[in-house]
Amino acid sequence: MGRGYLRIIGELFALARPYWFPFSLAFVSLVGTAVVEVSIPQVVRHTIDRYVVPRYAPDKATGEMVDVTTLSKWEVEKRVGPERYYRTPIGYLEPEDLFKRPYDEILKLREEDLKAINRMFLLFVLLLVLRFILNFSFVFLSSWVGQKVANDLRLRTFNHALRLPVSFYDRTPLGVIITRLTNDINSIVETFTGGFLNIFQNVLMFFAALVLMFAISVRLTLLVLLLIPVILILSYVFAGFFAKAWRKVRTGIARLNAFVQETIWGLKTIQNFMAYDLVKRRFEEINSYLYSAYMGVVYIAGVFRPALSFLSYVAIAIVVWYSAGGIMKGDITFGGLVAFLSYIDILFKPVQEFAQRIQVVQSSAAGYEKVKTFLSNPTEYEERRGTLRGEEREEVIRFQDVRHSYDGRRWALRGVTFSVRKGEKVALVGRTGSGKTTILNLILGFYVPTEGEVLVYGIPTADWDITALRSLYAPVMQDLTVFADSIPMNITLGYDLDYKGILEELEITYLLHKEYHELSAGEKQLVSIARALAFNRPIIVFDEATSNLDPITELKLQRILVERFKNKTLIIVAHRLATARIADRIIVLEDGRIVEEGNHEELMERRGKYYELYKLQEV
Ligand SMILES: Nc1ncnc2c1ncn2[C@@H]1O[C@H](COP(=O)(O)OP(=O)(O)OP(=O)(O)O)[C@@H](O)[C@H]1O
Ligand SMILES: [Mg+2]
Repeated sequence: MGRGYLRIIGELFALARPYWFPFSLAFVSLVGTAVVEVSIPQVVRHTIDRYVVPRYAPDKATGEMVDVTTLSKWEVEKRVGPERYYRTPIGYLEPEDLFKRPYDEILKLREEDLKAINRMFLLFVLLLVLRFILNFSFVFLSSWVGQKVANDLRLRTFNHALRLPVSFYDRTPLGVIITRLTNDINSIVETFTGGFLNIFQNVLMFFAALVLMFAISVRLTLLVLLLIPVILILSYVFAGFFAKAWRKVRTGIARLNAFVQETIWGLKTIQNFMAYDLVKRRFEEINSYLYSAYMGVVYIAGVFRPALSFLSYVAIAIVVWYSAGGIMKGDITFGGLVAFLSYIDILFKPVQEFAQRIQVVQSSAAGYEKVKTFLSNPTEYEERRGTLRGEEREEVIRFQDVRHSYDGRRWALRGVTFSVRKGEKVALVGRTGSGKTTILNLILGFYVPTEGEVLVYGIPTADWDITALRSLYAPVMQDLTVFADSIPMNITLGYDLDYKGILEELEITYLLHKEYHELSAGEKQLVSIARALAFNRPIIVFDEATSNLDPITELKLQRILVERFKNKTLIIVAHRLATARIADRIIVLEDGRIVEEGNHEELMERRGKYYELYKLQEV
């Protein structure tokens, strides 16, 4: 784990600053858990050595009985022999002497020890309860903080995604944004719950256990330490494989999600053409990829986990075997041995988990890095630092030698010059792909022209304050949007607008009683048109907005546009030339160029492209 990761982890923790109090509590609980965990074997050791096995022995020099648990190891070796006695109300007894008596009598003679054992048992239970509470408190608080941080970040990322320029989405698949919001942010939570803090806890417990083990037996501890490098290496290998296997699983899930989404999107086409086999074959491919990815995880976990726990049993076996003689010689007490075995577990667990925890932290950091990169894409507002606001004037829009390319390879517009006066109704017509929507995209400020200038109220769109520019327009785009919300909400978008009048004039108030998913293609257009008109802005922009309306409704709409919205500037794209006819001026585009311009009568007289198109449609 390099320095870069540490810096990122630092940044991640900085995100948790608003939650510093629960975070500190989580930290305290974590340290508390570690302390309790390493104390429990001490209680066991104490209980066994003091109250279970006999602990008195005659001093070699004086013959007086001494409590060996109060002596240091070398004192025991020097001062007493191997035999031990119990202290009872009737004097010191050898174990054989004591245990051949009737059961009731043994209980009575050892009453003091048994009472102490009960007390120790109570302490033991108390420690277990405490460990439970502390552990719960850590898990709960750290998850809470982690989820809060993720929650904040998700909100920030989503808000950012909403404000990115549309050109960003031309080159970024939707799946990427979804992955940022789900997988990547989720992996950040793990830094708080299972990653960094646990590494700290592991290190803490490792050293605490080590110190306590040395205190019990230096020789046994050194013996156990020999195994540590083996476990460490094995767990590193394991964690590497494991992370790789999980990455494969995540890729599989992302692929599956994208594929299902895409397929259901095109479900009607699939059903119409019975393209089930095509879809099924691709799905089977993804599905079996996912299957083998999951099986990979299973194999790795199946081999390595048992291998690691095998090693810790080997250690235990070695210790038991090696110390069996030691107990007799007084090298190690019986309680000490039991405690020591518990510490082996405590010592090995962090070592076994260490590599995996590091992987968690690394993937967490990588996830955060990706989210950060996403957030560093400048929003429309950051990219366009324009601050100007134009004043309403006679010439509303002017295109001056505009050439535009979306991808830097092909020209969508190749030199377009025209202007639109206030209150003028202008129609753009032309073949599919001739550049009509591109002109609107430039007017609306979604793109800045590659060459030339697009002026609105005399100011290049790039220099406009983008919010002010947008609030000039009432657009209906070619790709309609209906939100999963009520129809009134779809029209007002949450603003306080008077929309009833428009609906009445168009005689479409019945739409208010529909659900958003019940709308027909034409009704969707009506909702979008009602939205645009209700916003009551000076420039109305329609891109094929009436293509699905019946002629009667369209006529009604045209009358409203020409009469009630007489003062508003209208730019309308239409394939149906009957729609274009109402315009004061018609601009005919071909292959990114203006080829004809004029009103309906003029263009008909000219007998050019427009005339040809019109004749074709009249039939
Ligand atoms: N986001 C984009 N990225 C790259 N190229 C694009 C993009 N949008 C449009 N184009 C290309 O620019 C050209 C003009 O497209 P435009 O959308 O302006 O056509 P249009 O006149 O509106 O056509 P239609 O009548 O089909 O709506 C087309 O060749 C199209 O392939
Ligand atoms: Mg178009």
